[in-house]
Amino acid sequence: MNYLRLMKYPGAKTSIIPDIEDVFRRSGKRLFIDVFGGSGSVSLNMQYATVVYNDLDPELVNLFRAIQYDSDLLKDLLLESLDIYDFKRGRKNPPASKIPRYEAIRKPSLSGNKFGKIPDVKAAAQTVLRFTMSFGGMGSTYGTNEKSSKGYLRKTISMLPRIKEKVSLWTIENLDFRDLISRYDSKGAFFYLDPPYSEKKWYSTNFRESDYGALIAQLRNIKGTYLMTVDAHDDLLEDIFGEPDYIKSYENRNQNPNSGRKPPRMKAFYTNV
Ligand SMILES: C[S@@+](CC[C@H](N)C(=O)[O-])C[C@H]1O[C@@H](n2cnc3c(N)ncnc32)[C@H](O)[C@@H]1O
Repeated sequence: MNYLRLMKYPGAKTSIIPDIEDVFRRSGKRLFIDVFGGSGSVSLNMQYATVVYNDLDPELVNLFRAIQYDSDLLKDLLLESLDIYDFKRGRKNPPASKIPRYEAIRKPSLSGNKFGKIPDVKAAAQTVLRFTMSFGGMGSTYGTNEKSSKGYLRKTISMLPRIKEKVSLWTIENLDFRDLISRYDSKGAFFYLDPPYSEKKWYSTNFRESDYGALIAQLRNIKGTYLMTVDAHDDLLEDIFGEPDYIKSYENRNQNPNSGRKPPRMKAFYTNV
């Protein structure tokens, strides 16, 4: 299936979307709350949902607000970047340090338009580029089944009108998960939770053991429904969360032809649906 996606992102959840949709449909809810929204790959592909997208990283939140605000300008900037950056086949992508980083979002907010804070569209374009061209903007390149960054970016540009249609209907939040869950918990809510990995420091904010404990304590007491997916067979997480409701295996699509086939990825599902 040709899912919508905006940029490469460490831990994006494209392969398990059908299983998330299945649980969401069985829950009978309409309000889909993507607590750790990241690149938006899950929210972008939920059908018949009223979406609340959330992430603690202001850079990601600026990106989705910029899509709501002026996706045509974002498209023009991305088209321009196809000529500016060296995407030539066979040459290494530029180091992350060469891709401009967005600073302005940390400056005091502007006010006066319907967004409260005016999104920085140029910064949003830089975010898409930075993540698409190097793993999490951290310098090393991705091993993925989608070949060149330039081809990937062209496809993103062609998907932008459909992405804009979806994102313009979202409520976008920039909250810590504790505050988000308290604010949105209700009988009609479905929370999808894809928390940061326990062993990898991939994000601008990562999780400590106490965060996983706080998360499961909150989930055990909510009025709404939830689905949480994490890597299976992680001892730390099993100690904190207990046995998963079920485990599913997914083909690892990030194969490197030179290093043999990678084993499948095992995902643990925790749900009250
Ligand atoms: C595994 S990624 C989510 C990936 C996402 N499902 C996707 O498909 O792109 C986890 C996300 O949680 C965010 N995050 C980290 N700490 C958080 C917190 N305390 N509250 C909310 N979001 C947080 C990170 O910025 C990161 O984007």
